[in-house]
Amino acid sequence: MTSAATFLDFLAQSLGDRTFVRATLSKPGRAAPADLRSVYLRPVVIRGESLVAWTRRMSTRDEVKNLTAAQTMREVADLAGATFLHLDAESAGRAATLRFNKRGEPAVHFRQTGSAVLTAEDLRHDRVKHTTVDAAAACWRELGITGLAGSILPSAQDKWRQINKFTEIVDGLLKKTELPETVRAADMGSGKGYLTFALHALLVARGVKAVVTGIERRGELVGLCERTARRCGCEGLEFREGGISDWGGAPLELLIALHACDTATDDAIAAGVKGGARLMVLAPCCHQQVRQSMEVRAAHPAMGSLLRHGILRERYAEMVTDALRALYLEREGYRTQVFEFISAEHTAKNVMITAVKEDEPVRPVGVIDEEIAQLKAHAGLARHALEELLGC
Ligand SMILES: C[S@@+](CC[C@H](N)C(=O)[O-])C[C@H]1O[C@@H](n2cnc3c(N)ncnc32)[C@H](O)[C@@H]1O
Repeated sequence: MTSAATFLDFLAQSLGDRTFVRATLSKPGRAAPADLRSVYLRPVVIRGESLVAWTRRMSTRDEVKNLTAAQTMREVADLAGATFLHLDAESAGRAATLRFNKRGEPAVHFRQTGSAVLTAEDLRHDRVKHTTVDAAAACWRELGITGLAGSILPSAQDKWRQINKFTEIVDGLLKKTELPETVRAADMGSGKGYLTFALHALLVARGVKAVVTGIERRGELVGLCERTARRCGCEGLEFREGGISDWGGAPLELLIALHACDTATDDAIAAGVKGGARLMVLAPCCHQQVRQSMEVRAAHPAMGSLLRHGILRERYAEMVTDALRALYLEREGYRTQVFEFISAEHTAKNVMITAVKEDEPVRPVGVIDEEIAQLKAHAGLARHALEELLGC
C-alpha cells in the first residue's frame, strides 16, 4: 500500500469505527486557491446522523460545510498532494501524518496520542468552541498571552496552543483519577508560570481545593508569577524560588514538569515518586546526561555508525533517556504513556510522558530490570540519572 493509501485507510477506519477526533489539511500546494490556508475536520452528529464538519480557513473568512464519511474520504483523497501537502488525522489514541516533499513524494508517520473517544457533548455541531482554559481570566493578560480586548496576542498563539493541549491532556487524566478533597500539585521548573496557572484553574474548575506550587530557580520569574497570582486572586497558588531537588519527599498528588532542562526532569520524577504523586505529566527538554554518558566502545557494535554522528547521537540519546524514564517509572508502579503532545511545527520539544500510579505493580520488576539492562547495554550507557535518585 502506498503512504497516501495507508493514511486514507487510517482515516476511513477511524470514521468507520467512530474513533475519529480531528484532521487538519495544511501547507497549501500548487493547486490550492490563493486565499485557502487550511482545512479543519471534526466529527459532528446532526439530527442523529454522524457527519464530518469541514471548516475551510480562507485568508479573511471561514467556510463551513458538513459531509458524510464517504464524501469526506473522496474530498480528502482529491486534496492530498496537490492542494495540501501536510495532512494530519487523529483518532482516539493514535494519529497519522502524511507529508508530501518537494518532489511530491508522500511519507506517512504514525504516533500515539493522549486523545480519548469523543463524547456526545463533543459531537454536538452547535457546541461552543471549548477550550478548557478561559482566555478571559485576568492572569492571561498579566502574563502577556492576551491583549486588552481579551484576544490571544499573535506572538502568544503557539504558547496558547500548548497551554490548551496540556490542559486537555491533564483534564482527561484527572477524569480517570480519584482525587481527594484537597489536591496538592507542583509545577517543577515553572518558568513564567503559564502551565502552573492553567493547572490551578483546571483543579479549581473540578471543584477540589487546589494547593499548587510553582518551583523555579529564577527569582525574577517567581516574583512576577507571585505578583500575578496575588493580583488575580488565585487562592492556593504560590510560587517558590528554589531547586527542584529541594522539594525532597514532600507529599503531593500531582506533579508536572514541562521542559525542565536535562536532569531537572529526573529530579522532578524523583520528587513525584518520593512524594507519592498519583499523576505526573512530563515533557522532557534536553538530554545531556545520557548523550554524554553513551560510550561507543561499550555499545552494541551496530550502534557505532549511529553514535559517531552528532545529530543522530543526540536524537538517540533523547529516545534512550525517555524510554528509560518510562521504565523507571513503571518500576515504581506507574502506568506510563509516551507520545507527541503537540505538532513538531510548533516545538521540537514535543514528547510527553504521562505516569499514573497503579495500586498493583504494572509488570514484574525483574522483567523491567532486564529491559533496562538491555537498553543500557545497547546504548553503551553506564548510568542514568534516575538510578541514583531513585536508589535502584
Ligand atoms: C524552558 S523553561 C519551561 C517553563 C515551563 N515549565 C513551561 O513549559 O512553560 C524551564 C524552566 O525550568 C527552570 N529550571 C530548570 N532547572 C531547574 C531546577 N533544577 N530547579 C528549579 N528550576 C529549574 C528554568 O529556570 C526555567 O525557567
